[in-house]
Amino acid sequence: MELRHFLTLMDLSKDELHKLIARAIELKAMQHAGTIYEPFKNKVLAMIFEKSSTRTRVSFETAMVQCGGSAIFMSPENTQLGRGEPIEDTARVLSGMVDCVMVRTFEHEKIERFAKYSKVPVINALTDLCHPCQLLADMQTYTEHKNSIQGKKVAWIGDGNNMCHSYIKAARQFDFELAIASPVDYEPNADIMAMSKGHTSLYTDPVKAITDADLVTTDVWASMGQEEEKNLRTKVFEPYQVTSQLMSLAKPDALFMHCLPAHRGEEVSAEVIEGAQSVVWEQAENRLHSQKALLEFLL
Ligand code: CP
Ligand code: NVA
Repeated sequence: MELRHFLTLMDLSKDELHKLIARAIELKAMQHAGTIYEPFKNKVLAMIFEKSSTRTRVSFETAMVQCGGSAIFMSPENTQLGRGEPIEDTARVLSGMVDCVMVRTFEHEKIERFAKYSKVPVINALTDLCHPCQLLADMQTYTEHKNSIQGKKVAWIGDGNNMCHSYIKAARQFDFELAIASPVDYEPNADIMAMSKGHTSLYTDPVKAITDADLVTTDVWASMGQEEEKNLRTKVFEPYQVTSQLMSLAKPDALFMHCLPAHRGEEVSAEVIEGAQSVVWEQAENRLHSQKALLEFLL
């Protein structure tokens, strides 16, 4: 079988992505019905985390265990990665032992190098450039609530960060319109924007982006690795908080999503995240189901 990786949403075809979302919905129903399904018996996933995680770690580890396999948590502090063992060597060693490797790191180029030297599928569990696994869960959540996202308007309010980049790629792969509102100097990467030309528009004014949106989403103002910029960013991003007032400009039945962790009173008000339009808890749960579908596809 051809070796496949999932480093960005572009690594799967549109058809494969749509099938994967449908499968995630099926796997969720099976899980909720208590069906035992163990396709990963004796399979092992290695999980390299160079950044913190709650959802990604627990969802991948749970997915492996529920499907009959197991997962190994690795961080720089307790492996030779932290003592300078090259990523190329780690990739060759790990992929001689385990069946799949999941990596959360800083530079995207690092996971590309890892994949190049790996004999088993590699999954991007977040880099500074993108977070494709989160988009699987987001697309599943939208589909469950509203059916197809094709032709709908999605508003991204805030930083042009890794999550925003994955939304830009999703706009092309799932064929929706993405309106982004970011402050000057915090816009998404222009090359990534160019990949989804015709699907995206960029504003500085959040009102313009959110008006008539079917889905509103945002993320933290300072991502992991940007802790030192937090104070500056808090000032710059202040007009970009998703408040009830801003949310009222979207369609009345618009959904609100956030990949979490969230900072109430910063990128989103407590009222919005706890409000009736928010689907953030289902979105978080769907990390489990969509990643089971991803692992099933790759393994
Ligand atoms: N959304 C997300 O990836 O969360 P964690 O950082 O907790 O894994
Ligand atoms: N943009 C955030 C996403 C966290 C899941 C970060 O990179 O920290």
